[in-house]
Amino acid sequence: MGGRGLILGIESSCDETAAAVVERGQRTLSSVVASQIKTHARYGGVVPELASREHLRAIVQVVRAALAEADVALGDLDAIAVTAGPGLAGALLVGITYAKALAFAQGLPLIAVNHLEGHIHAVLLQSLPECLPQSLPDGRSSFEGKVEREDSRPSRNDKDAARVGHPLSFPNEEALALVVSGGHTHIYLAQPVKGSWSYRLMGRTVDDAAGEAFDKVAKLLGFGYPGGPWIDALSRYGNPRAVPFAFAQIKVKAHLTGKIARTKAAKTSPIANLDPRFMFSFSGIKTAVLRYVELHGLRDEARARAAQLFAQGVDARPPQSKEEALALCPQNVIDLVASFQCAVVGDLMKKSFAAAESLGARRILVTGGVAANRELRERFSAEAARRRVRVAFPTLALSTDNAAMIAAAAWPRFLAGEFAEDSLSADPSLALGR
Ligand code: KG4
Ligand code: ZN
Repeated sequence: MGGRGLILGIESSCDETAAAVVERGQRTLSSVVASQIKTHARYGGVVPELASREHLRAIVQVVRAALAEADVALGDLDAIAVTAGPGLAGALLVGITYAKALAFAQGLPLIAVNHLEGHIHAVLLQSLPECLPQSLPDGRSSFEGKVEREDSRPSRNDKDAARVGHPLSFPNEEALALVVSGGHTHIYLAQPVKGSWSYRLMGRTVDDAAGEAFDKVAKLLGFGYPGGPWIDALSRYGNPRAVPFAFAQIKVKAHLTGKIARTKAAKTSPIANLDPRFMFSFSGIKTAVLRYVELHGLRDEARARAAQLFAQGVDARPPQSKEEALALCPQNVIDLVASFQCAVVGDLMKKSFAAAESLGARRILVTGGVAANRELRERFSAEAARRRVRVAFPTLALSTDNAAMIAAAAWPRFLAGEFAEDSLSADPSLALGR
């Protein structure tokens, strides 16, 4: 055992094989992510069998690279943390099996982490030193050493936040957390409890996740995979009011009482137990885009673009200027994309701020792959400033899947001595919170 509070995190729930070393849940010494995007791009989505195979190929090298980058040996570690779910069963199993073997061989405790809790900790990872726990589970005194922020460069968000108080100046204050990614769109109330966190599910999607909608709309329009970055880049040059997309209020019908949400993500509280004001549905807007495409005869043009980008292979990347955007597609498609993004961001904002207000939460954490979206960051920051609440996002690198967030989420569990059983297995629909 090292005694420096070093946790090796391992993440393999979807299409990124990741490993990271984080000190005391605060200081990221390394974060290595091997993306499988190139493997899945040609299919326009993640192929589970290919994901498992790619994880198997990458995991040893990724863990070695994370240890080397952190300048840490296996003997310096205090624990190993691994994502136990939710995610793809075969993909999760690769990380879990490897983490178990490593923990057993090194005599280290193994900590099971919920992927969604990991995303929330991607934001908390940047919190200030005053939230550091003071003692280890075995009674040893607090660690020594300099505390550094994961990224101390002032960002645009830091400047925005400065006007309303830094969002993480009160790291142990309860927060409303919006986890918005390719597999999840969940609203939680995160509350600090005795040095750890507890989570209450407030709302979720009843069908597609927001990131899934970005990916499906991008595929429909012939853009690359994953679709979020393409739609984000194109939207800058479009008119967000060109197509009036609308979200209807979700109605919880009597026959759904007691049923879980119809999504491939975590199974959680029955839909009927959640407040319909904080529920999401993104399958309708996806169908609306499809209808628009058919009505305006955009199908062939989208197919031609998909073929052209496919031919470019790994060189295909989202446009960086208006000229590049117009070379890729006509203005009406750019306007369609901008209108779609504007509507999705507006819906995410409306429900998150309504939930925060109803709970009296004074800070909001927005995390997950879609939290990388530029319009989302700008509009959430502006609305938070207007309402005088604080909002925080992870750095761009920590918005999408990574293992630093897994190692950070494991730290309070390490302090509490909450270790995984030998029988730990993958739970593809692992729920977070009550
Ligand atoms: O968190 P993540 O890496 O994996 C999951 O846990 O799902 O999120 C991936 C998702 C994809 O759907 C991707 O299209 C979306 O995040 N995404 C974005 C952006 N960057 C990634 N969506 C909108 N705007 C972006 N800039
Ligand atoms: Zn994720």
